[in-house]
Amino acid sequence: MKLILDSLLSFRFFVLLYLLPSCLAFQLTTFGPKNYAPDDIVDTTVNTVSPSNGAEHGTDIFNYEYYDDRFHFCQPETIVQQPESLGSVLFGDRLYNSPLELKMLKNTSCIPLCASHMSKPDIQFLKDLISQNYVVHWNIDNLPIATYAGYANPDNYQLTPGFPLGRVTEEGILLYNHYDIIVEYHTSAQNQHRVVGAYVKPVSRESKFENGKPECSTSNSHEVLPDQDDLTFVTSYSVTWKYSTTPWATRWDKYMHGPSNQIRWMFLLYAGIFDIFLIFIVCLILFRTLNRDIDKYNSAFLDQEDVQEDFGWKLVHGDVFRPPRRPMLFSILLGTGAQLLFMTSAIILFAIFGIVAPSRRGSIATAVVALFIVSGFVSGFVSSVSYKVMQGMLRKRNLLLTPFVVPGILLAGALFFNIVFSAKNSSSTVPFTSWLLLIFLYLVFTVPLSFIGSLIGFRSREFVPPVRTNQIPRQIPTQSIWISTASSALIGGAIPFVAILIELYFILDSLWFHPLYFMFGFSFFCFGILITTCVMVSIITVYIQLCTENYNWWWRSFTTPGFCGVYVFVFSIIYWINRISSTSFATTLLYFGYSLMISILVFFLCGSVGFFGSFLFVNKIYGSIKID
Ligand SMILES: *[C@@H]1O[C@H](CO)[C@@H](O)[C@H](O)[C@H]1NC(C)=O
Repeated sequence: MKLILDSLLSFRFFVLLYLLPSCLAFQLTTFGPKNYAPDDIVDTTVNTVSPSNGAEHGTDIFNYEYYDDRFHFCQPETIVQQPESLGSVLFGDRLYNSPLELKMLKNTSCIPLCASHMSKPDIQFLKDLISQNYVVHWNIDNLPIATYAGYANPDNYQLTPGFPLGRVTEEGILLYNHYDIIVEYHTSAQNQHRVVGAYVKPVSRESKFENGKPECSTSNSHEVLPDQDDLTFVTSYSVTWKYSTTPWATRWDKYMHGPSNQIRWMFLLYAGIFDIFLIFIVCLILFRTLNRDIDKYNSAFLDQEDVQEDFGWKLVHGDVFRPPRRPMLFSILLGTGAQLLFMTSAIILFAIFGIVAPSRRGSIATAVVALFIVSGFVSGFVSSVSYKVMQGMLRKRNLLLTPFVVPGILLAGALFFNIVFSAKNSSSTVPFTSWLLLIFLYLVFTVPLSFIGSLIGFRSREFVPPVRTNQIPRQIPTQSIWISTASSALIGGAIPFVAILIELYFILDSLWFHPLYFMFGFSFFCFGILITTCVMVSIITVYIQLCTENYNWWWRSFTTPGFCGVYVFVFSIIYWINRISSTSFATTLLYFGYSLMISILVFFLCGSVGFFGSFLFVNKIYGSIKID
């Protein structure tokens, strides 16, 4: 039995844990190149209407379904929802077929699509969205269509998916009702063409009718949204095919490179240098001090003289492994932190190896779901091992609570947001069936996996602290205010936060405005820097604390780096003021709800990582002094 458990816990098992979700991600999203012969119909789908950054007077954060009645977009004969993975649905994609008909290599000039009638309230709704810079999302051959910006400087221009609904001008608010579509193709073999670029130049043209039938207008005047009247307008489009030398494999690169990349790399470079500096300082100071301290201590001990000269961290050896208060809560938080660490690092690894990518629609979201399921094991295991180390007695309760506390809070939060979404008729509302599926997966996989993890954790080898704990706790000398829990959290938490500051700004941008277009190269470095900084900060704090003969280091090693999460929340308030500043109550509620949730997760992640580092550190330093 022991053998099985050991081998289960071995490296291979963890590799398996990583592989399982990646298989899932693979299976759900196999996207290969699609070849079209001339005149073949090219797949065209519509996605949501979503906010984009750069609105002057603030913006809401709701997505809307493309065929929401209020838009009056032209519809195909029958609207068919396109199959999507659970992850894709959870993260907001809503794909439907499109009324456009695009034929490979067939240029068309101005085809009227349909005429629509819009009532006053809907015009007002549209005006609101246009002044908030809302954009429409279409896909051509699974490639998100972007606003055409010419070829002025393709190297220094980042494509962002979507094109605006209209434009605010002095004339009034214009409705874009004609789409100049430009599709780039690459020829892979004779009569085998692939779509490698998709753009739209949206135009506003005054509608034209002939004998009551919609006509394609070439008028120079614009379709202005009226203030008082209803509006009947014609939608039209034209298609131009252009040859491109971009091969299919790199057609996504244009979305990934942008002018801001240089700033980001520069900042990460500085943060990295700062981080290495921090590690260096920690190693230098700590190991020099430790070596000297340990030598002195050991020799003093052996010589039986100057023993009373003892001071600092060595003095508290009889208390340093005294279990902390609230071991139940602490171990559950650590389990969650480990779970988050596992998930985040796995996602970033998958992305680096190209297993998940924005070009595989929904693959990232699917991997998140799959990892969340599998990671139940990690949380159970870490929680139970920590609980055991902290000498908690209520093992059964720990086993039962671990999979429910934090996911429970998250699920409750998500359900609440969902109610707000559906009240707003937003497409971000997760359908009931997806909820059922998610809860089913959670109950059937995550919870039992967490139990298994807990059982294995409780059966793992007994933790023997390197020094014995005294019966009677030592008196803790009065502490200076500068090294109190609060001030060390305020100072210590700021350090990892500053290290990721700029990147955080871009992450929030992509979270609110371009979901899932993260750039994983950045995330990889940023995450690495965050983790190491948290560990370093935690170790330094614990060392200083132990030197002042305060042995209550457990919680502090968690809260100090964890406080970074509080800064993240403060930052999201600043971000709100600068980028969103909506007056809508629902948006405010949602934004701050989500931000709070993210900040809490960052708190758990950073705190746990810091604690693990400090725990190893404390074990190491007390393991190296000789006490009989
Ligand atoms: C379509 O029109 C563009 C621009 O006028 C032209 O460069 C291209 O060759 C045309 N394509 C085909 C297949 O006719």
